[in-house]
Amino acid sequence: MIVLLLLWNGLAWAQLGRNCTPCHSEQVDDVRGHKHGAAGVTCEVCHGASQKHRDALGAAAPDKVAGPDEVPALCGGCHTGQLKDYALSRHGKIVAAKSEQRAANCATCHGVHAARNVVAMKRQCDRCHASLPQACTRAGVAATAGRLVCASCHAPHTLARVK
Ligand code: HEC
Ligand code: HEC
Ligand code: HEC
Ligand code: HEC
Ligand code: HEC
Ligand code: HEC
Repeated sequence: MIVLLLLWNGLAWAQLGRNCTPCHSEQVDDVRGHKHGAAGVTCEVCHGASQKHRDALGAAAPDKVAGPDEVPALCGGCHTGQLKDYALSRHGKIVAAKSEQRAANCATCHGVHAARNVVAMKRQCDRCHASLPQACTRAGVAATAGRLVCASCHAPHTLARVK
């Protein structure tokens, strides 16, 4: 069973982006480097087969491209727990309201095709939160390798105070 699963995953990985590679090799490489690649989350899952797009060599639009306010529902279709939490947050409410104010959607923090690491994610926080209350820089909260420092005090999806 495990061997079969591995075989299937290997196959899915090899097939990933087969229809898109000629024109979008960068995105194909990115998704292969993401856990999504091995998990079989293919280009088609998020963009559809996009036959017309391919036939027209890109001159016709792909079947679907989620806009910022559609991203949470797209990602949350599989990551239901994170969506539930995110929807309760200031970020989630602002994005859902299609507000003029820009707030973080799933992809702003995590990236779309390639997964952002914590360093790149922190850069995103800083982009929108240039000045923060002193409470956020309280000494004694050491950055833990592989973990976002803000997450020591703010739950990443609800943004609720952790301590
Ligand atoms: C024959 C070349 C070709 C193939 C094959 C192709 N595309 Fe494209 N694609 C393009 C071109 C050209 C653009 C426009 C690029 C630009 O505007 O910079 C594009 C743009 C896109 C965009 C962005 C559209 C937008 O509105 O922002 C998406 C998403 C996309 N392609 C998905 C796919 C997917 C998924 C596949 C495979 C199922 C695919 N493409 C196959 C040529 C192709
Ligand atoms: C988990 C969902 C998801 C998967 C899987 C995915 N995409 Fe995307 N893709 C998106 C979203 C969302 C956007 C819009 C990003 C934006 O507007 O910034 C996008 C944008 C694009 C674009 C526009 C240029 C860019 O890089 O932003 C292209 C081209 C593209 N995707 C091609 C692909 C190809 C080819 C694959 C498969 C290797 C793929 N995508 C897999 C969600 C996905
Ligand atoms: C079709 C279902 C599906 C969709 C749609 C989807 N994902 Fe995933 N995602 C998965 C699976 C399956 C995994 C692999 C889980 C694992 O290996 O633990 C994963 C893994 C991840 C991980 C890595 C988690 C970890 O433990 O390292 C992140 C981050 C992530 N997805 C974010 C997103 C974002 C952001 C979007 C939307 C742009 C999205 N996903 C859309 C199914 C999906
Ligand atoms: C403000 C930035 C931010 C936004 C927005 C965000 N995330 Fe996350 N997400 C994080 C951080 C930080 C972690 C790592 C949590 C940790 O290490 O404790 C994480 C973890 C995850 C994980 C790994 C499993 C877990 O829960 O730890 C998945 C999957 C995920 N997020 C999906 C999503 C999806 C889907 C959305 C949108 C509905 C989303 N995220 C929105 C920052 C964000
Ligand atoms: C695209 C811009 C943007 C990005 C990126 C972003 N935020 Fe936000 N964030 C906002 C906006 C807008 C608000 C709401 C501010 C307000 O209510 O005036 C907010 C509110 C918050 C709040 C306060 C929540 C509350 O309940 O009052 C916290 C905490 C927060 N963000 C943390 C983060 C962290 C951590 C990151 C990075 C992982 C991040 N944000 C990335 C725009 C962003
Ligand atoms: C040591 C704990 C701690 C850390 C680490 C921390 N914060 Fe905070 N943060 C707080 C506390 C406590 C408050 C409430 C402050 C207040 O009400 O005066 C807060 C409030 C906020 C607010 C709301 C500001 C407002 O005007 O209402 C935002 C946005 C925020 N933090 C973002 C961040 C970001 C982004 C990071 C990472 C760069 C971060 N925080 C790291 C403890 C922390």
